[in-house]
Amino acid sequence: MDQAKNLRNQVAKKKGGRSTKVLSVTSGKGGVGKTQTVANLAIALREKGNEVLIFDGDMGLANIDIIYNISPPYNLKHLVDGSKSIDEVLFKSEDGVYILPAASGIQELTNLDQVHKMNLISQIDQLEGRFDYVIIDTAAGISDNVMYLNSASQFILVVVTPEPTSITDAYALIKVLSTRYSEKEFYIITNQTRTEAESKMVFNSLVSAADKYLDSVQLWHLHNFPYSEKVRQSITRQVPMIKFEKEGEIADCYRELAKKIEALELERTKGGMQFFLKQAITGNG
Ligand SMILES: Nc1ncnc2c1ncn2[C@@H]1O[C@H](COP(=O)(O)OP(=O)(O)O)[C@@H](O)[C@H]1O
Ligand SMILES: [Mg+2]
Repeated sequence: MDQAKNLRNQVAKKKGGRSTKVLSVTSGKGGVGKTQTVANLAIALREKGNEVLIFDGDMGLANIDIIYNISPPYNLKHLVDGSKSIDEVLFKSEDGVYILPAASGIQELTNLDQVHKMNLISQIDQLEGRFDYVIIDTAAGISDNVMYLNSASQFILVVVTPEPTSITDAYALIKVLSTRYSEKEFYIITNQTRTEAESKMVFNSLVSAADKYLDSVQLWHLHNFPYSEKVRQSITRQVPMIKFEKEGEIADCYRELAKKIEALELERTKGGMQFFLKQAITGNG
């Protein structure tokens, strides 16, 4: 643990809470493995004793509810309309991971009226100091909501597969986030690769496009997940992969990713939880 992290933890402890790292998991193209990553990374971090919250920012098909085999009674909509408190809305999975479920009706957080924004912010305020990690599962693409969620988080993890459209769409996403939202650092997760060489190829093609066309953008190859039929089986069985084959290669891969996430150091001034939601809601990314 280095000095900066030590200091951050000391300050947080003194204030009576935890300092929260906020990560978004995003992609240009859908169906690349964002929700898989979020669902399993959350459990891996939890296994290490962290308090983890998943913010479901996508109503996609195989969403977090399906993968965890849960059906939370309330969601973001109930926070926004003021009918439920944050403690009623947060759903705790059997692994001890908390989920803030997505609302289908709410397209753009930034378009909420003042009363609804205040409802949300006042409830979110109560989460201060409760979580070590907030992981946002965003929708794919470059909608305003996705941009705000990403630019409000401290670390942007971009999931990309070897499919050419996945690579070009990931580049498009990085381009918009860097040119319009001044985001300069991106953590790339290659997924569904068949060989080590393929994983490097995917990462390198993003790097060469970024180097050529974008100004001072930094890409880091955070992690690679190989293609595995077992992932598909785990989804069918509705058991998160990290538990489906507890000691398997992919489960270990998620644990390795968790280690790397714990080691990431905050180098910028973006705050934690509070900052994240206020930014996401007000749109001042
Ligand atoms: N490592 C992998 N190996 C094989 N299939 C995978 C892998 N990761 C994801 N998939 C497949 O891709 C599908 C989409 O994954 P998901 O996490 O729901 O994507 P997203 O959230 O990006 O839309 C999954 O249902 C699964 O079938
Ligand atoms: Mg998804």
